[in-house]
Amino acid sequence: MAFDPLQERGIPLDEQLRDWRELNVTPIDPDRCDPYTRCRIITMNGIETEAILFSHHMARHCRDVEIKQRLARVRYIEAQQQKVVNWLLPGVSSVLETTIAYEQVAVDLTAWVARMEPDQRLKQAYQFGVLEDFDHLYRYANLYEMIEHRRADKIVDQLTEVMPGRPTYLHHRDSMDNVREPYQRRVTEPLSRLHALTITAAEQQTMNFYMNVGPMYMEPIARQLYQEIGLIEEEHVTHYESLVEPGESWWERLLNHEYNECYLYYSFMETESDPKVKNIWELHLNMELEHLRLAAEMFRRFDGRDPDQVLAPALPPPVTFEPNKGYIRDLLATQMDLTTLGTGYVREAHERFEKMQRAVMGGERPPSERVIEENRAISGEEYRLQTEGPHPAGLRVNR
Ligand SMILES: [Fe+2]
Ligand SMILES: [Fe+2]
Ligand SMILES: [Fe+2]
Ligand SMILES: [Fe+2]
Repeated sequence: MAFDPLQERGIPLDEQLRDWRELNVTPIDPDRCDPYTRCRIITMNGIETEAILFSHHMARHCRDVEIKQRLARVRYIEAQQQKVVNWLLPGVSSVLETTIAYEQVAVDLTAWVARMEPDQRLKQAYQFGVLEDFDHLYRYANLYEMIEHRRADKIVDQLTEVMPGRPTYLHHRDSMDNVREPYQRRVTEPLSRLHALTITAAEQQTMNFYMNVGPMYMEPIARQLYQEIGLIEEEHVTHYESLVEPGESWWERLLNHEYNECYLYYSFMETESDPKVKNIWELHLNMELEHLRLAAEMFRRFDGRDPDQVLAPALPPPVTFEPNKGYIRDLLATQMDLTTLGTGYVREAHERFEKMQRAVMGGERPPSERVIEENRAISGEEYRLQTEGPHPAGLRVNR
């Protein structure tokens, strides 16, 4: 039987509040955990953060005190969920280790979404973006080896390869070229909406993370690399958020947010390898079912339509963290040299792109290139993790 969140009963809102003892979760063991458990935690932290910020924005557009109170009640629970989820991460990891995990999320989540996306135009948007976060992973892994003297396979294990993608310095595009055409609400499948919400939330959290943690390092190359990649995450948020048609009403957007939370908790409950973490996904799913019911009630009342008109009849197959090595290698072989022009994609470096490059480089080598050179000088060679053979675009290891 397919799981239909609109038909399931959740935990009544009054019973969702947790005390300090319940909020005080035991973190995962960083040395023994499944890297994809960490990826699921990071993803859900991004989703809960999005739920909280979205609800705040909605409340600020709203005059009615009663609706603001309803939003505030659910939002407080979202805030408790966010605390529980993010506090599953152990305090021993360094900022850079968490950063590498964030880029692993970006790679394997976006690749999975690209593989499953039914709309060709949206699929292209994910394929384009994933090759950039793939390159960020490589740059940060080299910074990690250089300043913490450790290897990124300690974090990503053998699940995600680490090697050059579309070179980071080429991600600095004119902002005019970062906005895509939105999907059309009435013809797009519900799954596409959920994908766009999920990836936008994940990129938003990465952007926020880098803008805050970047200056926590003292090493000039680390500070500079976080600035450079932090600015690209701003471009990524622009790229992905523009996929969502803004014509949707606040009620419909709220409904989609709660539905997506149900979808992801259900997905992770189904695929989680750590039993303690799985229990949390299950508990939160049962909370979200009630959030969804409340959002559906408001949707009927204020939007005037039935939730069935905008939501899928049942949940799509579970979002799964799994290796995407072959898929990424195919993209590396065929899409490394793409850039954007207007809302589309091109292969040549056009005038506006070159102008932006000159302006932002200021005649210097970018931090993302220097980090590889400097690590090579210190460690003897650059860091890579190629489990499936040579680089598909023929890029050899530089010594
Ligand atoms: Fe939530
Ligand atoms: Fe990234
Ligand atoms: Fe990104
Ligand atoms: Fe929720």
